[in-house]
Amino acid sequence: AELKEASAELLRTAAGRHRSGRASQGLVPTMGALHAGHAALVRAARAANDVVVASIFVNPLQFGEAADLDRYPRTLEADLDVLAAAGADIAFAPAVEEVYPGGEPLVRVCAGALGEKLEGASRPGHFDGALTVVAKLLHYGLPALPADYRAYFGQKDAQQLALVRRMVADLDFPVEIVGVPLVRDADGLALSSRNRFLSAAEREAALVLPRSLHYLQGQARRNEPLDIPGALAMIASVPQVQLDYLEVVDPDTLEPLAFNCQDTPFTGQALALVAARVGKVRLIDNVRLGE
Ligand code: PAJ
Repeated sequence: AELKEASAELLRTAAGRHRSGRASQGLVPTMGALHAGHAALVRAARAANDVVVASIFVNPLQFGEAADLDRYPRTLEADLDVLAAAGADIAFAPAVEEVYPGGEPLVRVCAGALGEKLEGASRPGHFDGALTVVAKLLHYGLPALPADYRAYFGQKDAQQLALVRRMVADLDFPVEIVGVPLVRDADGLALSSRNRFLSAAEREAALVLPRSLHYLQGQARRNEPLDIPGALAMIASVPQVQLDYLEVVDPDTLEPLAFNCQDTPFTGQALALVAARVGKVRLIDNVRLGE
């Protein structure tokens, strides 16, 4: 099938073509600069839905400094090729004025306490902005009910995924949220649109992040106490890497678990989250602990 490009108005019409019968629809929200991690979301949506819509929109509302927004990579032509190759039907790449016609919106989604910890502590307002645009994108992509409607988010952004799940549950969005496993490069670094800003030496240094998570994962697999001080020391030994946080949290609430501070043998399920600056680039990574 050929990839169609749609404006906000057209998306409603194009999606409308699939409103007969019990067609299912999958939505994949992105900010473009697409890589294999994004393609994994599109392929997951392709495998489970009749219609796959992917959005590309660099959302000003979720950026802090204007400089960060300005230098965010924009590679629309290459992105459309990635979407076509991964099997999307409709590409939705609206202009800022289409999404925010009156300028920045007055009424927004508030992410609450879950949006203020971890990533939110370093990026005030980030998750309010991300949830506000996700809410709008979910509505644009909405097919007629009772067709199945699903939206796909990467586990790479674990806090964003947890928040979208909460928003959808708390505000009764008629959509099923599907989490897609994190995709890594061959050397273990989590794929990110920001990796292109790393020098070769910085990239080498950044590998301590997945290595430290892998270290904890091994202990969890063997039901040993987690050596968090050891993981912190690994990161501290690489001078180019400025740690922001390393936490072991509940996968749903992202509340810290006792493993953070005690000699408790590991059992159950947890998420180990890390965030750090490498040069001018902020990187995040995470792994599941437990089966
Ligand atoms: P963006 O950073 O472009 O990511 C779009 C989607 O791709 C997110 O769900 C993210 O978790 C997923 N993704 C990115 N890298 C991945 C990787 N290495 N493995 C698996 N999935 C990965 O996240 C956003 O955009 C925005 O906040 C958005 C949701 C589009 C709202 O503006």
